[in-house]
Amino acid sequence: MRRKLAAGNWKMNGTAASLTELEALKSSLPTNAPDVVICPPAPLLYRATQAAKETGIQIGAQDCHMQESGAFTGDVSASMIADTGATHVIVGHSERRDAHEERDRDVRKKAKTAWAAGLTAIICIGETLEDHEANNTLDIIAGQLAGSLPSAVTPTNTVIAYEPIWAIGTGKVPTLEQIVEVHDFIRERLTSRYGTEIADMIPLLYGGSVKPDNAATIFKAANVDGALVGGASLKAADFAPIITALSQS
Ligand code: PGA
Repeated sequence: MRRKLAAGNWKMNGTAASLTELEALKSSLPTNAPDVVICPPAPLLYRATQAAKETGIQIGAQDCHMQESGAFTGDVSASMIADTGATHVIVGHSERRDAHEERDRDVRKKAKTAWAAGLTAIICIGETLEDHEANNTLDIIAGQLAGSLPSAVTPTNTVIAYEPIWAIGTGKVPTLEQIVEVHDFIRERLTSRYGTEIADMIPLLYGGSVKPDNAATIFKAANVDGALVGGASLKAADFAPIITALSQS
C-alpha cells in the first residue's frame, strides 16, 4: 500500500503565534490519519519542529538552495533545514519557478541536495492556463518529469505534487476526469522510467485549491495519494477535514 500524505504549504504566511495551529490540528486528526507535513516559512522551521513534537505531524521547508553551502546571501541549504528537525522540502513549486526563474534542471539539483541532507523532496510540476487551454498538459508534464526528477528517485526520498498553475489560489479545480488522466499519466511515466516496484510506491499529490468541500471528490482518483494544500492548510479547522477525507478515501 502506498502511503497517503497531506502536506500544507503555508507560503509566506505565519509567525510564531501561528504554531498553535499544530496543536489544534493534532487534536482534530482522525485516529487513522495519513502522514501530515506542514511547511511553514523558513524562520519558523525550528520552532515548528519543537511545537510538532508528540503530535505526529512532520515539518517541511518550502525550498532549499541547490548547493550544499557557500556564498549565497539570503538562501537556505538543505542541511540547515534538516538541522532544524524538518523531514521534507518542497522543490520546484510554480511560484518559485515563476518568480525565481527556476528551471527543471535547478529543481533536479535541489532534489538531489535535499536527499543528500536526508530530506524527502516534494517535487512540484504543473502546466500554465495557456498550456491547459491548448491541450498541452500531458506534454508539459512529461517534460517536467523528465527534467525535474533525478534518476535515483525512490518512494522514500520523493513525493510528486501535480499542481496545475491555473488552479493554485484561484478556486478553480480540474474535473475529476482531468485529475485522473494526469495522475494516471504520471504513474505511467514513472513506471517506464523507474520500473513498477518503485513507481507504484511513490506518493502522488494533487495541489491547487483543495478545500474541505472538494477534497473527497479529488481523493476518488486512484492515483491521487494525497494533497499539497496552500490556503486551506493555514487553519487547522480547514485542514483537518481535508485530512479526514484523505483518511476515508
Ligand atoms: P492553494 O495552493 O491550495 O492555495 O491553491 C496550493 C499550492 O500552491 O501548493
